[in-house]
Amino acid sequence: MLSQPDMLARLGARRQNYSLDRDLYCDDGVFQMDLEHVFYREWLFAIPSCEIPKTGNFATLQVGAYPVVITRAADGMIRAFHNVCRHRGQRLCAKETGSTPKLVCPYHQWTYDLDGKLVYARDMQDSFDLAAHGLKKVHCVDLGGMVFICLAEVPPPISELAPKLMTYLAPSGLKDAKVAHSSTIIEKGNWKLVIENNRECYHCGGSHPSLCRTYSDNPRMTAMEGPDAASPDILAHWQRCEAAGLPSRFTNHPRMQWRLARIPLLNNAESYTMSTKAAVARRMGQMPFSDAGSLLFFHYPNTWNHFLADHAIVFRILPISPTETEVTTKWLVHKDAVEGVDYDIPNLTEVWMNTNDEDRQVVEENQKGILSPAYEPGPYSTIQEEGVIQFVDWYCGTMTDRLAPQPAVAAE
Ligand code: FES
Ligand SMILES: [Fe+2]
Repeated sequence: MLSQPDMLARLGARRQNYSLDRDLYCDDGVFQMDLEHVFYREWLFAIPSCEIPKTGNFATLQVGAYPVVITRAADGMIRAFHNVCRHRGQRLCAKETGSTPKLVCPYHQWTYDLDGKLVYARDMQDSFDLAAHGLKKVHCVDLGGMVFICLAEVPPPISELAPKLMTYLAPSGLKDAKVAHSSTIIEKGNWKLVIENNRECYHCGGSHPSLCRTYSDNPRMTAMEGPDAASPDILAHWQRCEAAGLPSRFTNHPRMQWRLARIPLLNNAESYTMSTKAAVARRMGQMPFSDAGSLLFFHYPNTWNHFLADHAIVFRILPISPTETEVTTKWLVHKDAVEGVDYDIPNLTEVWMNTNDEDRQVVEENQKGILSPAYEPGPYSTIQEEGVIQFVDWYCGTMTDRLAPQPAVAAE
């Protein structure tokens, strides 16, 4: 099991533009460090806010060792808490989503308001202080319909992302959307392999016949360097979309922890469907036309997303073990779109259900190969795998900063 100094040494010895050392994809110590220094410290995408639209709605998720519950209280606010009873530590909510007027612990029925206050604890002594035993808070923000949580005591700044994401998402009207379908799969691969696979389309032609009907695997399509630096097709798409009120130009975090940009689909396709036509008769929010392409948004370490004219697809990954990752996909449509009339689930979900399963297979085979003692880091294509290079640079830079011994503070 790698220790902190071992890990720092591996990161220091890394060959630039090469895949990572084997242990970084399977070692228990590295997995713990990934949890502690990435997943327990960064903002994580949790749920679309439209999944808990009404007072009393809640959703749960498990981030490493931490069960978390997200609620919507009577004041309309979305809040997140450690999903752990303050009595003897029972997990409060076991269901993935649900609705309840109060959070009642199943063990001895301590009862919490949806804002986390403890309001009832049976037969406790007079000296017991209800107010001191509310649920522990988890930082939580709703950015234009995407709910992010952060387990750190002091979360990293989100002030750069927040206004950009809210502006870019506004025309998609996520608050007026609903979850039409949800799918969770476990991929038998390290979470970094799942992200790496998402950040390139070098594999798309060989793996994704359904997706390639509408999504270009030409790296030029996503090789965007700035708000005015992209291929002529992309620049033309940005001009057309922005003239119609859709923020579209490439914008990113200085260390590329996140990126937003709208890209056209192939041959004016409207949506990720087998027919290339819209899957949903009713458009999202204020989307002005059907062929607006896809607004791409990723945020490390755990989400990538596509916002189309007729629907949105949000993805969340959560690490389960060094070689297992949970991947949850949700398809969002306008809340007034009627299933069976305006859309049907097989047509809406077919392309990405296929694509997810194809990606699961490549990630699992990638993990199997890396587990071989014969594996050695191989070179990335700087033409096709810029996104992967950029992700592993972000990961290695972040880990190095966080694991490196901090300089001693000079005595006054
Ligand atoms: S552990 Fe929750 S009420 Fe006892
Ligand atoms: Fe893929």
